[in-house]
Amino acid sequence: MQRFQVSVPAQPSKCEIVIGRGILSAAGREIRRRLGPRAQRLALISNKKVFKLYGAPVVESLEAGRFQVSHWLMGDGERYKSLKTAETALQFFSEHGIERTDAVVSLGGGVTGDLAGFAASIYLRGVAFVQIPTTLVAQIDASIGGKVGVNLSSGKNRAGAFHQPGIVIADLETLNSLPARELTAGWCECIKQGATAGRKLFQQTTAYLSNTTGKQVAITSQLENLIAAHAAFKASIVSSDMREDPERNDPRSRRILNFGHTVGHALEELTDYRRFRHGEAVGWGMLVAGELSKNLGLLDQSELESLQAGIRLCGQLPAARDIGTDAILSAVRRDKKSARGQVQWVLLERIGKPRIVSGEEIDVTSLKTSIRDALKQRN
Ligand code: NAD
Ligand code: GLY
Repeated sequence: MQRFQVSVPAQPSKCEIVIGRGILSAAGREIRRRLGPRAQRLALISNKKVFKLYGAPVVESLEAGRFQVSHWLMGDGERYKSLKTAETALQFFSEHGIERTDAVVSLGGGVTGDLAGFAASIYLRGVAFVQIPTTLVAQIDASIGGKVGVNLSSGKNRAGAFHQPGIVIADLETLNSLPARELTAGWCECIKQGATAGRKLFQQTTAYLSNTTGKQVAITSQLENLIAAHAAFKASIVSSDMREDPERNDPRSRRILNFGHTVGHALEELTDYRRFRHGEAVGWGMLVAGELSKNLGLLDQSELESLQAGIRLCGQLPAARDIGTDAILSAVRRDKKSARGQVQWVLLERIGKPRIVSGEEIDVTSLKTSIRDALKQRN
């Protein structure tokens, strides 16, 4: 088991991250230790699929930790990350007597975590929150760092808050039941983190991927070390720039975690969030950002090829070549990751060395060529 903390200066306390194999049964004990004796009730949010797989052992463990547990199962899918679902969650907390000293627990992937955390952040002006992430995306990224929120019709994650979980408990055994596409999406996010963190994490990720079939994860100590390294990287970025300061452009700014997201979000939006898993869209977005970095003379061809090879190892991405370049550019300009009306591109100078470049410094021809060339690649 591996255990470390995210120090968040603006918050009253730290977030603990516990990563291990077969640790769902320890959830109640860990949460009791973290929340202290005053907490009595836990409102567990999950979905039908995940609760059927892992609900029983988690509830048993929470009850053994002397909590009264009530659970509510939200719909499964990005479209349920909405204000309407959040309102239902808030009503559920009220009906089950959740008080300021109690807590909300998310059991599931990033959708459940973002929604449950958002509801926890506004219920009674904020109650404690616990993450039990069960997807690769959630274990290495979404459960860490306190970004919680919902989608609006105008775009993804448009309403939200920074609300740190008191503790994140990631049991790698839950990845055994994860469908292949969800693994691909998670590996793409791992490549994103490796490409922005440093060559060591990138190589640790590609070395693991080169030795797996892609469809199944081997729950080994190598995987535990890899996920812990990713979680530690994410935690370190969050500790240094919790609120994603829009004035920061340095390579430790939280904005670097948006590598691949500019075009990724555009692809998701243009296909109504139906064609791509979030991580898959980020996979394409990284290919575009890599191509653009090369076309602007920032990135060597050999480094671009390493990035492309890393993304290939994640598994096949749904085709994107039919999506028009102009439509992508329009969607990019609408994206919220802009400052003073300019899109902020996260590009690469080399693997592990991100650079934030304002849209005004990039000519439209390079942009269009990069999008077209990247999206026509087979992967
Ligand atoms: P998800 O939550 O939709 O989960 C993917 C699918 O896997 C769902 O159908 C879910 O029911 C199922 N599932 C979950 N755990 C399972 C398991 N162990 N076995 C079998 N099936 C399982 O998707 P995700 O990829 O985990 O998260 C994507 C969401 O996270 C997006 O909304 C994205 O915006 C958000 N996100 C947030 C942050 C953040 O910092 N807050 C970071 C990255 C992504
Ligand atoms: N997933 C990006 C962030 O947490 O900032």
